[in-house]
Amino acid sequence: MSFMLLNKVFLAPMAGITDKPMRKIVHHISPQVFLTTEMVAVNAISYKNPKTYKMADVHDEPYPVAVQLMGSDPQLFENAAKLVTDLGAASIDINMGCPVRKVVSSHSGSYLMTDMSLASKIIETTVKATSLPVSVKFRKGFDNAHINATEFALMCEESGAAYITVHGRTKAQGYTGTADWEILKTVKENIHIPLVGNGDVKSPDDANKMLSETGADAVMVGRASLGNPWLLRDISDTLANKPLTNIPLISDIEQTLISHISALLDYYGETVALGLTRKYICWYSKTLKDAKKFRENYMKINDFDTAFESIKEYFKHLKGA
Ligand SMILES: Cc1cc2nc3c(=O)[nH]c(=O)nc-3n(C[C@H](O)[C@H](O)[C@H](O)COP(=O)(O)O)c2cc1C
Repeated sequence: MSFMLLNKVFLAPMAGITDKPMRKIVHHISPQVFLTTEMVAVNAISYKNPKTYKMADVHDEPYPVAVQLMGSDPQLFENAAKLVTDLGAASIDINMGCPVRKVVSSHSGSYLMTDMSLASKIIETTVKATSLPVSVKFRKGFDNAHINATEFALMCEESGAAYITVHGRTKAQGYTGTADWEILKTVKENIHIPLVGNGDVKSPDDANKMLSETGADAVMVGRASLGNPWLLRDISDTLANKPLTNIPLISDIEQTLISHISALLDYYGETVALGLTRKYICWYSKTLKDAKKFRENYMKINDFDTAFESIKEYFKHLKGA
C-alpha cells in the first residue's frame, strides 16, 4: 500500500533559513505544517563536522522534522541515513534538485537528474539503511532539452521512495521564470506514491489551484513564507476548509520577530546570530511602513541590546505610541 502523507502543507527546505529557530516559529504559528531541515551534506555529516551535525540533530524538537540529505556517494548516504535516524529525524528527504554550481559539479543535487542509475542507487541504499520514510525532491528536469521529471519520478518510486516533491522549474532556470504546474499533473498521472507540488505557491488561492490543477497530494511553500509564517497557517486552514484567522496585528509581527531573533541568538550565539537577524528584519518588515529607514539603521547595529531596542522603537512608532 502506498505511503500516506499526514500533512497538506510542507515548509520547503531552504539553506541558511529552515534551521531550528525557523522551525520553532513556524510550528508555533502553524502547527499543521510539516517541517524540514535545510540540506545537510552527507560527507560532512559522516565525518561528524560539528556545524553539519548540529544542523541534522533534531532530537529535541517536539514535532516531526524531515532531515534533507545532499551528496553523491551511496556509501555516505548509508552512513548519514543511519546517523540522522539516531538523531531524531521523522523522515529523510534526498536533495536531487539543488542548482548551485558547487553542488552540481560535485555530482549532487540536480546533477543526479542526469544520472538515473546513480540516483537510483542512492535512493535504494538510503531506504535500506533506515526504517524511516525516504522521499526525494527534484525538478522538472536539468534544462529545457532534458525534461525528465516523469521518468525520474517513476525511478524514485521503483527505488523505494515513499513520496516525491517536484519543483516545476528546470535546473537551468534556477529560481527565475514561473514554475510549470503542468509537469506536476503529468507526473501525478504516472505515479502511485504521493506527490508534493512545489513552486510559486504564494497564497491560499495558489495552493488550492495547485492541488486542483495538478492532483498533487500536498503543497510545499518556500520563499513566500519568509517573514510571513502566517501564510502557512492560512494555506493550511484553507486546504482544511477552515475559516481564516485574522491577519496578524502589528503587535503579532513584533512579537514573532522578537521570538525569532531571540531563538537565533540562543541557537547560534551572539556573533553568528547578529548577521543572520538582518535578513529576517528585511523579511518581517517588507509590508510595513517606514521600513526602509528602520532597516538602514538596523544594518549598522553591532550588538543585541541595541538590536532589540531598535525593534522596540520601530514598532512603537508603527503603533503610534
Ligand atoms: C534561499 C533558498 C535556499 C534553498 N535551499 C534549498 C535546500 O537546501 N534544499 C532544497 O531541496 N531546496 C532548496 N531551495 C529550493 C526550495 O526548497 C523550493 O524548491 C524553491 O524555493 C521553490 O519553491 P517556492 O517557489 O515556494 O519558493 C532553496 C530555495 C531558496 C530560495
